[in-house]
Amino acid sequence: GGPIVTDLHLCGDPDPPDHPPPAPFHCCPPMSSSEPVNFTFPDPAEPLRTRRPAHEASADHMAKYKRAVALMKALPRSDPRSFYQQANVHCAYCSGALRQPGRPELPLQIHFTWLFFPFHRAYLYFFERIAAKLLGDPGFALPFWSWDVPEGMRIPDEFADRASPLYNARRNPRHLPPKVLDLEFMEVENNYTDEQQIQRNLWVMHKQMVTNARLPSLFYGQPYHAGDSAMPGAGTVELCPHNTMHLWAGDISNPNVEDMGVYYSAGRDPIFYPHHANIDRLWDAWRHIIRTTHGNQTQADFTDPDWLDASFLFYDEEARLVRVTVRDMLDADKLRYTYGGVGMAWLNARP
Ligand code: C2O
Repeated sequence: GGPIVTDLHLCGDPDPPDHPPPAPFHCCPPMSSSEPVNFTFPDPAEPLRTRRPAHEASADHMAKYKRAVALMKALPRSDPRSFYQQANVHCAYCSGALRQPGRPELPLQIHFTWLFFPFHRAYLYFFERIAAKLLGDPGFALPFWSWDVPEGMRIPDEFADRASPLYNARRNPRHLPPKVLDLEFMEVENNYTDEQQIQRNLWVMHKQMVTNARLPSLFYGQPYHAGDSAMPGAGTVELCPHNTMHLWAGDISNPNVEDMGVYYSAGRDPIFYPHHANIDRLWDAWRHIIRTTHGNQTQADFTDPDWLDASFLFYDEEARLVRVTVRDMLDADKLRYTYGGVGMAWLNARP
């Protein structure tokens, strides 16, 4: 028992993926010479960052994301704020590189557990602030890939432009825009028309967000305490559309559907961050649904301190190592960002 705790000293070789990868990889973060500092909330006077959907973000907004990725890619690999290291954050927490304190036989794996949403929220929080700092734009907000609403059901054009820093050659060539995406994609193409596919996608969203997600454990994933073995069980949205959109974007001709289709390399694709911003937005949407449909009758969140006190380590925009708990990540307002631009098109979508 007890909360999951991260210790960077317990980072080593990752577990090999299912199939030999195209190139060897290492994913431990750089060590810090100082002890981690505890997370503190940003100044409430900071401008509120509004994350906008990529399909309708202004050219100016997308140009900023492009420039931020280019600036991160230009930093030396030893800099924890570099794109290389940011991508590796995912690898460290998801591929067996980090181990549990006192239990070297157990990987620290945040997927298929109740840590899935809060871990990725914290990851994006620091990624976004690093981007803002490098851009010199304190109001910079990530664009999100709103694959859950009809206008967002394609890979956004900016990611398919070969000249862009947002381009990645390791994506499925059949899935470039204007191909309409399949939220249930499991490596097999189907023959629906665009209209049929869009309708099916909306049904899937309704099922995963409403019908099948009426309890915290169903939405978040199963409890995961210190000493537990990896992957006790995923929540609805993690399985689909989260995992399915990873598979949709990755290149199916690579051994493990790299980059997006496997944990160790997913963060290397600049579409990973807008993808996860949408996952994060759906977390807020789910809490809103639970609050409005069940009033105060149902707890939206777990109250177990092993959830609330679970902690992760991230480097911030000043390259300081920060310890963040799940408790710190429960209120986007306090983190000074919000979502705009799309509603819940699937809220009443039933076959
Ligand atoms: Cu940590 Cu989208 O996976």
